[in-house]
Order: sequence, then C-alpha cells, then structure tokens
Amino acid sequence: MSGEDVVRRCRKLARVSEEEERLTRRFATPAMARANALVGRWMAEAGMAVRVDAAGNLVGHLPGCDPDAGTLLLGSHLDTVRDAGAFDGPLGVLAAVACVARLRAEEVTLPFAVDVLAFSDEEGLRYGTGYLGSSAVAGTFEPALLELADEDGVTVRDALAAFGGEPDAPERASRRGERLLGYCEVHIEQGPVLEQREAPVAVVGAIAGATRAQVRFTGRAGHAGTVPMELRRDAACALAELVLAVEAAGRAEPGLVATVGRLSAQPGAPNVIPGAALASLDVRHADDAVRAAAVDGLRARAEAIAGARGLGVAWEGRLDTPGVAMDPALSERLAGAVAALGLPDVRLPSGAGHDAVALSALTGTAMLFVRCAGGVSHHPDESVAPADVAVALDVLDGFVRGLAG
Ligand code: GLV
Ligand code: MN
Ligand code: MN
Repeated sequence: MSGEDVVRRCRKLARVSEEEERLTRRFATPAMARANALVGRWMAEAGMAVRVDAAGNLVGHLPGCDPDAGTLLLGSHLDTVRDAGAFDGPLGVLAAVACVARLRAEEVTLPFAVDVLAFSDEEGLRYGTGYLGSSAVAGTFEPALLELADEDGVTVRDALAAFGGEPDAPERASRRGERLLGYCEVHIEQGPVLEQREAPVAVVGAIAGATRAQVRFTGRAGHAGTVPMELRRDAACALAELVLAVEAAGRAEPGLVATVGRLSAQPGAPNVIPGAALASLDVRHADDAVRAAAVDGLRARAEAIAGARGLGVAWEGRLDTPGVAMDPALSERLAGAVAALGLPDVRLPSGAGHDAVALSALTGTAMLFVRCAGGVSHHPDESVAPADVAVALDVLDGFVRGLAG
C-alpha cells in the first residue's frame, strides 16, 4: 500500500460522520460503528482477525509464528472532535493496517503477533474526558466514568451497552498480564515545526500532561424585561468572567495553554436571564507542577467569581493525566528506522494528547509524528502529503522488521 492509498482511505473514512456537513464521530455512536465496520473490512483484507472489544475498540490481530514471542501493539483512534479533519487518529490506524498489508504482501512472517488497535475514544468529545477506549486496554479504566452523561443524558454505561460493548466488564478489554513488546503510534504532528524544519517525520520524546474539567455556575433564571440589573444572579456573566480568567492564566505563564472550548447558557432563550451556565476547561503544560498550580488558581478564581455574584459553582474533574515520556529503547529503534532512510533526526515533544498516554501505563510506547500542512489540526483543513505518509510507512516497516531482529 502506498502513501497515496492511505491518504485516500483516511478521506473515505472522513465521510463516515454523525453529521451531514462535517466530520464528527463521538464515542459509541452509530457513526463509530460504521467506521469500525469499514476499517474492520480493511483489516480483514490485510489478513487480520477482527473483533470489537469490551470498550468498543476495534482490534485487528495478525498472529506471529512463535507463540511465546508476544505481541506488538500499533494503532491510534477512530473517534474525532467536532468538525474534524480526516487524519487526526485515522492516519495512525490506517498506517498500521498498511504496514500489516505490506508484510502479508511480501510474505514476511514475524515471530511476534501484531495487533492494530483502533481506539473508540481519544478525543473525549462526547463525555468531556479522553482515553475511554485506550484506558480500558491499559487496564486503568475508571468505573466511575460509566455514570457520566452526554448532552442528551445518555450515560457512558448505556452508550457502551447499546454499542455492543461490556460496560459491566470493561476490564475484558485490558491487555494487562500479556507479553507485550510495546505500542507504536503514527500521528500527524498537529503543529508547524516539521514544516519549518523541512522534515517529513519526527520521533516524539514526551507528551504533555492535561487537565479537563466541567464548571457549572448556578444562579436564578428570570424575565429579561422585568428583573432589574442589580437584582440578577446571571450565571452566564460569571462564565464570561471565567473564560477571560482562563485566557489570562494561559497568557501569564510561559508554555501554559488553557482553553474553554464548549460553553452554554441555560435555559437558553433570548429573553430569559441564564439560571445556569456550563464551560469545559482544558489546561496543559509540559511541567505537571505548573499545570496543577494553574488549575488550582482557576478553581479558586471560579469560586471567587461565584461568591462575588451570589452564585453556586460546581467543578467536576473529567481528565487528569501527567506528562509521559516515551520509552527510550523503542524511541531509539524508531529513530534508527528514520536514520536508515537517510532522513534528519528530528525529536519533538507533543503538546497534544495521544492514546500513547494511556498505553504507557501498560507497556513501553513510541510515537512518530508526520508533517501536516500548515500545522493545522482539529480543523477540516487538516492535510498531509502522500509522500510524507509514504515515509512514515517505510519508517514503521523498518521499526517492525527491526524488532523481529
Ligand atoms: C487530542 O487531540 C488532544 O490533545 O486534545
Ligand atoms: Mn489524535
Ligand atoms: Mn485530536
């Protein structure tokens, strides 16, 4: 399979969406089931046995010839953000499928098995979390998350059950206790550095930690025409203050990024004073202590805003992952495969989160970034050159064959 083939498949998969006009694929939705079916067909064509695990992850299995040699894990995610591009996640899955297809086409039998994992939830769009699928595989899934509800009141438990998963036994997706050789993920860079360096790929050193929370201010709804300004308890005004405080916190601390990506006022009518207001919060920094201090500061700020306005405030943590380092030995192998192609040795940290974060609790992880146009990501304009994907396929091939000795 060529780089062109993989790009074509990513674009075809991008038409599998919950929404007519844009790409949105949330955890455990009918669109995810259709995506699993399509990618599952490509996995089967590549000679893999295909199943969907207890957490809704699609798994393709290629056996090795030595049953004691263990399993190498490859992959990325198939869920997306709202109005997504075609490559964030699917590129890593389809590069892994192409890698297996090439091994089969060249009749290479590896001693170890290869599992391609297409994770059901990395972005966390539906539940404001992240890594629901990969944490189950890593054996770190938190059962309390099963009770989280989406915008329509559907819990993780009910969504997963309707999807054919096993909400009462997510541990069945866990690969803990198996002999694993590691996890390797190909992903678009989602930033501009590779373009600037004129290099097609980079080996990732570490992934920054992240905190996500949902903040809810509660005031009192009322008539927009009759309640005097000084008697209002307007939850949306408190939210507006918090949004600007989040921006200010990010600007004040070098390297800190802080975002409110989703906000709503309730009940949501032009002539009703908002009685409740909700915001998502996403905070990241390469240094966990700096991130934790920023989050503590923002939480105190939310409480102060609520106190000054006579409102209630509830802060619900949705994700808290520390920064993780990639496995040095696997990363050197990956860098060796890059060097073998005569390419420059570029190493990059990742500000974005990846399934490798969750998998690093299970096994050694390594990541290869692929240059993307303009560094654009989480946007429909996401784009990657087939020639760069071809390089990534060659690197992955070299890495996998190298592991076989
Ligand atoms: C995943 O894309 C993330 O970093 O939010
Ligand atoms: Mn991703
Ligand atoms: Mn993403």
